[in-house]
Amino acid sequence: EKAGYKHFMMKEIAEQPTVVDRVLDAYLDADGSIAMTLPDVDFTKVSRISIVACGTAYYAGLVAKYWFEHYARLPVDIDVASEFRYREPPLPEGTLAVYVSQSGETADTLAALRYTDGKASRIVSLVNSAESSIARESDVAVPIHAGVEVSVASTKAFTAMLTTFAVMVLKAASERGVMDADTLAGHIQSLRQLPGLMSHAISIDGELARTARKVAQSRDVLFLGRGQMFPLALEGALKLKEISYLHAEGYASGELKHGPIALVDKNTPTVVLAPHDGLFEKTVSNMQEVMARGGRVLLISDAKAIAATGGGVWRTITMPDAPELVQPILYAIPAQLLAYHAAIAKGTDVDQPRNLAKSVTVE
Ligand code: M6R
Repeated sequence: EKAGYKHFMMKEIAEQPTVVDRVLDAYLDADGSIAMTLPDVDFTKVSRISIVACGTAYYAGLVAKYWFEHYARLPVDIDVASEFRYREPPLPEGTLAVYVSQSGETADTLAALRYTDGKASRIVSLVNSAESSIARESDVAVPIHAGVEVSVASTKAFTAMLTTFAVMVLKAASERGVMDADTLAGHIQSLRQLPGLMSHAISIDGELARTARKVAQSRDVLFLGRGQMFPLALEGALKLKEISYLHAEGYASGELKHGPIALVDKNTPTVVLAPHDGLFEKTVSNMQEVMARGGRVLLISDAKAIAATGGGVWRTITMPDAPELVQPILYAIPAQLLAYHAAIAKGTDVDQPRNLAKSVTVE
């Protein structure tokens, strides 16, 4: 059932181009129009979105926050479920509550959902199982079509959540009249390019494995990302700590000098997830700050950005060029592969890491 792979995690990483294709087929028509139905959700009447989730699902929600705000001009609050439920936050009128959960059974997420029942204008969930408690108790359950995910470390569910969110964001943007038809068509085309780009990223596996073996020799690892790539830094760090037990921290690149730079030394690699964008120059100066302190930078980026770094970087992984919208989905792959190969190098139990359960149904 591992289809020739040594671990479910690697099988599930490799499945991602197919999963993304499936999500796109479910939510886009062949003519390029959006086919996602969200009964009684009127984005022109939504004034604010509240996203709640745990772990990797939370990081998917965090990317969605950047997207909803940027593309659909909708303000988003995001919380981890365990904080949200006990804080008892007020939900202003017009709040759309969105819950994200692969299992659909996460106790804190379910409790948070129950708290918003009757307070939110509508409860939408992104789930992998239509029969789950979270799906059943939402007004609208949107399947992420990832298929069964066995590995405790979530991979394909993350990219499936992101792809589902991307379509939802485009739907919101066009309904709200803040995105014209040409721009929308361009973004849909970008999404359609994604499976091919993901296959390309998966083919960089050997190079990532070599780098991961080096990274696995350190005790601490920093991950940096900016804007929509910040949640990917958090996800990369989570994945690495879950399965390789290396200590990893994800930070927004701009936060580096507000504390984490104190950790930088020659034994602490800093993984920078940064495709070329308008803020890349700022990322270059963050990398220089790390290098000036003897830190080793692993830059995961595209050829244009790598050429613009000016050298001094410890290692680079060259990713294919990708349209901005799909970058966070694409860059999940090197983050996952890095964690996978670091775990292999450490000899840990990749699919069943210590102390962790696939579904956290207790608080
Ligand atoms: O089933 P859920 O999506 O609600 O699970 C949430 C987290 O427990 C989960 O994403 C966890 O962080 C994973 N082990 C991450 O790889």
